[in-house]
Amino acid sequence: MTADALVIFTPSGKRGRFPLGTPVLTAARSLGVDLDSVCGGRGICSKCQITPGYGAFPKHGVTVAKDALSEWNAVEDRYHRVRGLAEGRRLGCQAQVMGDVVIDVPPKARSTSR
Ligand code: FES
Repeated sequence: MTADALVIFTPSGKRGRFPLGTPVLTAARSLGVDLDSVCGGRGICSKCQITPGYGAFPKHGVTVAKDALSEWNAVEDRYHRVRGLAEGRRLGCQAQVMGDVVIDVPPKARSTSR
């Protein structure tokens, strides 16, 4: 059996279980969550920005561990050096699900908000 994790997106409340290592953007797409992507997941456009939430979420019945997403990777590092990523943000095409997690999709990352 493959280990999987619960992924909950806010504000939509859409949720699903995904194999560990699934990119957040892939999880969002398979649930129909409105998370934008212009560069096709190459770490260039930053449209896929998300804010992971850590700690207890009684409302959702989950506690999110600090390592619920994969480590900050080289692509995010490059983007941050060149363009800058706001504190706490990750690139959804790069961050992978490693444990139960609550993911907030900021207004700018929703394609319908523009
Ligand atoms: S989809 Fe473009 S940076 Fe993630």
